[in-house]
Amino acid sequence: MKNRYLSLTVALLALSLAGCPPKTETGGGATGKAATTGDIVVGEYGSLTGNQATFGTSTHNGITLAMEEVNGSGGVLGRQIKVITEDDQSKSEEAASAVTKLIAQNSVVAVLGEVASSSSMAAAPVCQSNKIPMITPSSTNPDVTKKGDFIFRMCFIDPYQGPVMAEYLVNTLKVKRVALLTDNRSDYSRGLGEAFSGRFKQLGGAIVITQSYSQGDSDFRSQLTAIKTANPEVLYVPGYYNDIGQIASQARDLGMTMPLAGGDGWESPKLIEIGGKALEGCFYSNHYYAEDPTPEVRNFVEKYKKRFDNQMPDALAALGYDAAKVLADSIKRAGKTDGPALRDAIGQTKGFQGVTGAITLGPDRNPIGKKIVIVGIQNGRLALRSTIDPNTQAAPVAAHATSAPSDTTGTH
Ligand code: PHE
Repeated sequence: MKNRYLSLTVALLALSLAGCPPKTETGGGATGKAATTGDIVVGEYGSLTGNQATFGTSTHNGITLAMEEVNGSGGVLGRQIKVITEDDQSKSEEAASAVTKLIAQNSVVAVLGEVASSSSMAAAPVCQSNKIPMITPSSTNPDVTKKGDFIFRMCFIDPYQGPVMAEYLVNTLKVKRVALLTDNRSDYSRGLGEAFSGRFKQLGGAIVITQSYSQGDSDFRSQLTAIKTANPEVLYVPGYYNDIGQIASQARDLGMTMPLAGGDGWESPKLIEIGGKALEGCFYSNHYYAEDPTPEVRNFVEKYKKRFDNQMPDALAALGYDAAKVLADSIKRAGKTDGPALRDAIGQTKGFQGVTGAITLGPDRNPIGKKIVIVGIQNGRLALRSTIDPNTQAAPVAAHATSAPSDTTGTH
């Protein structure tokens, strides 16, 4: 119902705009044929403000850096790329209208975003029904790209991320009893929680208790008290950074000493700022590690720090950068900017050397064989614990002897 309503809104908006001259000589989505001169206009929607503001901000920086590089070396098809950015305030309800506006008013040729899976899922049908390709840099819920053949992603999916952590807990840390705490307002959190617990149980582990919260809650004490009674060795919380810091602090206040573990949603420069000492010994799975010695990562980190006031790029920045570069490369290969041609070119992306690894898209529009890292919080900073590369290894192995599982807060 909601989707049909949205496409109708787009159609009406497009109709009402049909008589107006386009502001920029580009486009080709809902409003007409793709232009062949002037700037190529690309849309970006993201959480620049609100609960997950660092997700949108980091992604935006990554996209900005990538497009400045593309434009600095002559652009694509002899034209410059212009990015128009819409802030959805970290609300999935706003994501769909942000994308509707980008398509109907700005005539973007493609859309980059979102980070949060719920927001990507809300906006994807708008892109699909208007035949405008969308690339989410970082949404990991498998349903996102199932919204249609115009929807792509640059990252691994949760049915891979969850089991990797389950295997790490069982095989490397010898953990048998885990408590699960999920955010019931997030498709990402629910999906990752299920993917994790399915594999964990398969490996002989027990989920001793399952509790939930709602994104933006500030009091987690009743769930944590119940979890404390169930006495797990590890508390798995597939949530977003702003909640994680508070959950960890409240758990420590209640005298709980077990490590918390989580997924990519923990990734933020604000994570440790919010959680502080409560997060020592905790760990999460992620797309990239900023201190990775590979030339691709070193080069990216150096350029990013120079461009953005010495800030360290997080995984969102790296994935935003990769998404923008893949899009520019696809426009070049397509030789034009109309939706279906661009869709085909993005789908044919093969071995594109990104910061987060080589990107090859499969028939389901998800990348094949992306690696995953497990990072831990040690002495107030991130340390690499393990790298899992599906191209070269079957099971998780410890990558750094110096960052072996910390026992400072662990009970195992
Ligand atoms: N994977 C998360 C989601 O789908 C978003 C995310 C990606 C958050 C990477 C942080 C880092 O909702």
